[in-house]
Amino acid sequence: MKIFVIILLFVLISQGYSQCSLSDIHVNQSRTGRTVNGKSQWTVYITNWCACVQTNVQLDCKGFQTVEAIEPSLLQVSGDVCLVSAGQPIWKGAIEFNYAWDTQFPLTPISSIVAC
Ligand SMILES: *[C@@H]1O[C@H](CO)[C@@H](O)[C@H](O)[C@H]1NC(C)=O
Repeated sequence: MKIFVIILLFVLISQGYSQCSLSDIHVNQSRTGRTVNGKSQWTVYITNWCACVQTNVQLDCKGFQTVEAIEPSLLQVSGDVCLVSAGQPIWKGAIEFNYAWDTQFPLTPISSIVAC
């Protein structure tokens, strides 16, 4: 009986930890108030709210444009998809970069690999 309870607890705990998903990747952005070549500058923060790291985080970059270059180690734009941190693990600490365009792009997370 004791062993059964321990196993049950273990299963519950490990399920709790694997409850990480793409929705734990939070993207927030705001206007810096500055302009670059006449375009508004935006600061983007990408944070992983999950207890586990997530790798290969990709964002929807449909139509994404910027007049301010972004370090490829932070964001690699390839067609409609952007890769965050060159696919490296994202922890709780925020990844931060700037871009500059007339309008804000949603940069919605579209896929990631959860590594628990
Ligand atoms: C955006 O995320 C960063 C890093 O987690 C945080 O410091 C900042 O307060 C957030 N801004 C908003 C508007 O939520």
